[in-house]
Amino acid sequence: MTLPPMILLTIETTCDETAAALVDDQLRVLGSVVASQDELHSRFHGVVPEIAARAHLERILPVIDEAIRRAGITLAQIDAIAVANTPGLAGSLLVGVAAAKGLALALGKPLVGVNHLQAHIYACRVASGVDVFPCLGLIVSGGHTSLYRCPTPIRFELLGGTIDDAAGEAFDKVASMLGLPFPGGPAVSRVAEHGNAAAYRFPRSFLHEPERLQFSFSGLKTAVRYAIAGPGRPDFRDVKLTEQQIADLAASFEAAVVDCLVGKTLHALDATGLKTLCVGGGVAANRRFRTQLAAALQSRHVRLEIAPPELCTDNAVMGAVAFERLRAGEVDGLDLEVLPGLVRE
Ligand code: KG4
Ligand code: ZN
Repeated sequence: MTLPPMILLTIETTCDETAAALVDDQLRVLGSVVASQDELHSRFHGVVPEIAARAHLERILPVIDEAIRRAGITLAQIDAIAVANTPGLAGSLLVGVAAAKGLALALGKPLVGVNHLQAHIYACRVASGVDVFPCLGLIVSGGHTSLYRCPTPIRFELLGGTIDDAAGEAFDKVASMLGLPFPGGPAVSRVAEHGNAAAYRFPRSFLHEPERLQFSFSGLKTAVRYAIAGPGRPDFRDVKLTEQQIADLAASFEAAVVDCLVGKTLHALDATGLKTLCVGGGVAANRRFRTQLAAALQSRHVRLEIAPPELCTDNAVMGAVAFERLRAGEVDGLDLEVLPGLVRE
């Protein structure tokens, strides 16, 4: 007799996406819902934590209900509940964790905490359908730009990260300077398609220091600001840019970010000797980045795994990494904590 597959409900509320998914132990996605809050945060050009937490509260139960409906199952068929409890915005995390605890208690099912960064890398495992570990993990999102040695899906060792802004954060801030909508990544990359990436020569921090596995994007952001202002003008907000100037600035900025991400990843591959690279996080959806990374790896015999764009940005499917914790005998109790800063890696 074959046993029916185990079904996991996963919940994700680390930042500004309210998401839930049902995934079975063969990593088949039975149902997935992502409710974005972009329209709530757009006029602030960034995520406002208090607004995000309140919106999660309104959406969490309808989102879970809809995921279960799409999966065509009943609550009783859920075998375990997983929730991202680190890292993220405190108020946002609390909503998902409280919902998961309530369900785990009511259904009498195990509760498993998920590290959101491990989940971003696990999206590559889900998408590829085959094992991807050990690998080098690159996470490029709104809150993180980090390189990890990943011997297993649930044991990560930090190799280096950004010393100031995350790549996605830089996209969002530059978009705001250029008068483009939030979230900035997709908007910048859209207008960049019509721009000249060589029009402005922006800095590429640490790119020529192979031993330094770090990123820095704040100098680049300032360089864009000065390029907009032009010589002798103190405030970039007084400048009316033409469409072509916006496109050129966007393309030159995007090229600088992508050069840094690709360059540092190559340095990390050299330093670790790892032969598989997994990339996750919203910025991994960037077309120029995907093309340039794939081209750079062609001659290196490194296997590249990047999830499709909908699994790069925040989603609950990637929380299937909880199966790996369950297999390792790691289950959490109802005292599962919310850890906004990264503690467990
Ligand atoms: O992983 P994610 O959805 O949320 C976090 O965990 O932060 O990443 C969101 C970030 C935002 O900063 C957004 O501007 C950026 O990913 N992003 C992109 C693209 N799509 C989303 N950046 C560059 N190009 C894109 N196509
Ligand atoms: Zn994320």
